[in-house]
Amino acid sequence: MTASLHLPEGLDTFLRDVWQTRPLLIRQALPGFRSPLSADELAGLACTPEVESRLVVEHGRVPWEVRHGPFDEGEFATLPEGHWTLLVQDVDKHVPAVADLLDAFAFIPDWRFDDIMVSYAADQGSVGPHVDEYDVFLVQAEGRRRWQIAPPPSGQPELLPMLDLAILQRFEPHEQWLLEPGDLLYLPPGVPHWGIAEGPCMTWSVGMRAPDWRELATAWCD
Ligand code: SIN
Ligand code: CO
Repeated sequence: MTASLHLPEGLDTFLRDVWQTRPLLIRQALPGFRSPLSADELAGLACTPEVESRLVVEHGRVPWEVRHGPFDEGEFATLPEGHWTLLVQDVDKHVPAVADLLDAFAFIPDWRFDDIMVSYAADQGSVGPHVDEYDVFLVQAEGRRRWQIAPPPSGQPELLPMLDLAILQRFEPHEQWLLEPGDLLYLPPGVPHWGIAEGPCMTWSVGMRAPDWRELATAWCD
């Protein structure tokens, strides 16, 4: 699969007006996209010791319970019908067919790229409203997910206490979209967002690292 991104406004406009500046929903950015990875394969990866994975269960032993992998296969069978998400980090490093998607983002310098995290959510699954410190392209790979975004908070956002996840105390969405396979939502750092699965779904997060001065210097030297 050689992936290419369909940007209706063109790449120059994206890089000038959108990249690191504002969220953008791109319908059918990857027309005809079909996930080369099944939910079962993702669960298999999450049972492998060298793979980093998490399960987020919304009504677990504590609200928003986080369990860390590797998991036993049997654990998935004990999960409730909805309201949970399995997240697997660095899937591009383990599954070449997933790494192929990176061709579509070749316009971003390699050194900015961090990983492709793949999430599988049961109906209504989410990781709660939160803010990330990096740019992310959220690719809808399978099923449907409703994304809501809110304006960036003016100061340090308040988080729910005592959680292993940085969930925002307050979240007032001002825009929302229902994403279908092949749709993509680009978010610059600092934009509060919340993605809730409508039916089981899979989302690929193509994440960029937040550059610090050392990385910038190394990239410049390279
Ligand atoms: C998810 O895939 O459920 C979470 C991705 C994100 O919000 O960064
Ligand atoms: Co996020």
